[in-house]
Amino acid sequence: MTAPAASAVTVHRIPHDRLCAAMRVVVRGFGSTPDEVDAVVDNLVEANLRGHDSHGIGMLPRYAEAFLEGSLQVNAHARVDLDSGTLLRVDGGCGFGQVIGREAIDLAVERARRHGSCLLAIGHSHHLGRIGAWAEQAAAAGLVSVHFVNVMARPIVAPHGGAQARYGTNPFCVGVPRPDAPPLVLDFATSVIAQGKTRVAHNQGVAIEPGCVIDPQGHDSTDPRWTVVPPFGALLPFGGELGAHKGYGLALMCELLGGALASGMTLRDQPENLDKRRVLNGMFSVLVDPQALGGGSAFDAEVGAFVDWVKSAPARPGFEPVQVAGEPELARRAQRLAEGLAVDATTWGEIEQAAARLGVDVAAVRREAGLAG
Ligand SMILES: NC(=O)c1ccc[n+]([C@@H]2O[C@H](COP(=O)([O-])OP(=O)(O)OC[C@H]3O[C@@H](n4cnc5c(N)ncnc54)[C@H](O)[C@@H]3O)[C@@H](O)[C@H]2O)c1
Repeated sequence: MTAPAASAVTVHRIPHDRLCAAMRVVVRGFGSTPDEVDAVVDNLVEANLRGHDSHGIGMLPRYAEAFLEGSLQVNAHARVDLDSGTLLRVDGGCGFGQVIGREAIDLAVERARRHGSCLLAIGHSHHLGRIGAWAEQAAAAGLVSVHFVNVMARPIVAPHGGAQARYGTNPFCVGVPRPDAPPLVLDFATSVIAQGKTRVAHNQGVAIEPGCVIDPQGHDSTDPRWTVVPPFGALLPFGGELGAHKGYGLALMCELLGGALASGMTLRDQPENLDKRRVLNGMFSVLVDPQALGGGSAFDAEVGAFVDWVKSAPARPGFEPVQVAGEPELARRAQRLAEGLAVDATTWGEIEQAAARLGVDVAAVRREAGLAG
């Protein structure tokens, strides 16, 4: 399959504070409390700042569709269904994941600080966004955390060797705090690229790398459309030709732990998942206090020394210097804070349309963003 021709794409470059102000106007349209507005906007814009546009403000049109079909509940809070001290199960009631995630991690952080560890299961949360945000929240409290996540929406990723999608982009994330440095945050979709990245490419009219997408017959393609508009193909698991069985295996475990274990459901052939615009996430999280495990300062010292050792490897020809997980995001964050955030005109247009459907004054959104007209 041939790739779409790259087209000239208009891009708005918007300063961080103006983008936040504009998105607050949009999110108020859901009828959210001021706290919920802040939680949603801060989380989405932070994803853009860190370079993950796939999980930033471009999600708002999807959230609006989920809200308008009645499956995203505004102003919902994390409800504790099971509490045995270090074992917590939380139901999100289809509320904004930005609120459910924050509240559930807050509870788990308190338990892990008290008992040394906590196992947290979150079910029925609407989209939890960039999972690294939850690892950062735990790391800010000095905790190591591991997160397995499933995605309840239309299946989008094919199992290794399969020609049809069977599950979502099931992200996996690990956060490691460091006393005198930002946390290490490994945070990725188990598909070779996140689905939102194909949406961004489709909106920009550009092709994607070979090896990411298959068409409905299972053939390789560089056209992002196969995961954006019907008829659907699928994304491939990460790992490339020789290693896709590993991405697939990790995704399967995310489904079983984030789905079956944490929320009692997995992504099977259920019409309610195919028809709805909502995106539910289940998340199984492990939080551990390295101090409580007895190795606190040794752990900190070892983490620091190992990171130094790893980064001392000379760069391969054609490669940038070695980095560790979380560093690329911090570099992009600094750059985007300084230069403003680029939002392509298609994404911006979709946000304006969503705002209009929510009854928001679109001119006010543009004004806050500093866009003419
Ligand atoms: N909520 C959901 O349903 C859902 C589903 C899928 C993905 N996501 C989110 O989408 C986001 C993007 O995922 P992705 O798969 O596109 O991420 P990605 O492919 O950009 O990988 C990101 C990870 O790799 C690390 N990394 C990148 N370059 C590196 C380098 N040169 N050296 C060392 N480490 C490096 C980053 O620090 C980060 O931990 C994530 O935040 C994820 O949580 C969410």
